[in-house]
Amino acid sequence: MHAPEDSTASAGTAHRTYDALVIGGGIIGLVTAWRAAQRGLRTAIADPAPGGGAAQVAAGMLAAVTELHYGEETLLGLNRTSAHRYPAFTAELEEASGQDTGYRACGTLAVALDADDRAHLRELHALQLRYGLDSQWLSGRECRRLEPLLAPCVRGGLRVDGDHQTDPRRLAAALLAACERAGVVLHRAWAERLLVRRDRAAGAVLDDGTELAAGQVVLAGGSRSGRLAGVPDDVLPPVRPVKGQILRLRVPGRIAPFLSRTVRAVVRGGHVYLVPRENGELVLGATSEELGWDTTVTAGGVYELLRDAHELVPGITELPLVETRAGLRPGSPDNAPLLGPTALPGLHLATGHHRNGVLLTPVTGDAMAELLATGELPEEARPFTPLRFSPGGGPAPASGPASTNTPASDASVRQEQPA
Ligand code: GLY
Repeated sequence: MHAPEDSTASAGTAHRTYDALVIGGGIIGLVTAWRAAQRGLRTAIADPAPGGGAAQVAAGMLAAVTELHYGEETLLGLNRTSAHRYPAFTAELEEASGQDTGYRACGTLAVALDADDRAHLRELHALQLRYGLDSQWLSGRECRRLEPLLAPCVRGGLRVDGDHQTDPRRLAAALLAACERAGVVLHRAWAERLLVRRDRAAGAVLDDGTELAAGQVVLAGGSRSGRLAGVPDDVLPPVRPVKGQILRLRVPGRIAPFLSRTVRAVVRGGHVYLVPRENGELVLGATSEELGWDTTVTAGGVYELLRDAHELVPGITELPLVETRAGLRPGSPDNAPLLGPTALPGLHLATGHHRNGVLLTPVTGDAMAELLATGELPEEARPFTPLRFSPGGGPAPASGPASTNTPASDASVRQEQPA
């Protein structure tokens, strides 16, 4: 392995050469770089603030079963594979980084508040059972026995003991530390433009003037991945920003435990969830809005989240509200990630994780490192090839019905990108 002594490269360095350059230092870029470095590849990340991005906003639910949707069975397979890897992944990462990631095997309760919600949840339960998933129907009274602070109007729910949580902020910090310890070089600058030489991705030019040469490039820029200059139009990933507003409350020590597991519901068609951490943080999310690059926290967004969460757990209005934030999920046309080689030799994608970025972190790191080290994408990642969106190329969509949305391709990667 080729570990440089100083893992943070200085600005303006002319010409550095790597086996793998990862553009984007969110959790997907970090896990890709960490795993690649473990395979002995000289690896670098380009990002002005590695460890930032969507993970700073996300709640961290590992909700393979409770976030199941019709038509997404291929994605379900990948989600379950990654959920299954989480305990070992967490143990290895905590050992490698020396940091706690806040992984909590607490399970989830998804509840219904009215007759419509109940019908919706019954359908979800039938779908879960069809796929052999572990999910148990409970009456309203049984739900309240598990979580006594639930509202009296809760009409029933699903107990899913396998949908856990992790703390995305701690996960990002641990991945960053693990990358540094593994010798990943951090270039703290934006990737301004992809370098293409002889019809092959050959590195990137950063906005501080540094030119990085690399045998392979991974574009892991979250919702900004479709905006990197120099990428041919037909190779640009069709990802778009999907805004999520989220709140953080604090459960004072004197009233803990408030909730013992993640509690979620669909209220008037929108998702609301409460994710209780062991340290007293209670994350309340999230809106889902197609508003382009806007990351404004709005009065309406906060109001709707609090209104719906109050219907679910009336006691939340007593808690201190400590943070409001909005971020951007990288949505793809079929809600599934884009993993693997593109039509441009040497350029790979690890993006488009939409609502499942935290959940899919372990399997994405494994798949991308395997690809970088051997040239082969593992079996479980192949349905997620970016080529499925190429004109006339690739297998059928990985999941769900196709929708439109191709982002603009005229700018370098610049917008803030959380959630
Ligand atoms: N997976 C939860 C969310 O995207 O809001």
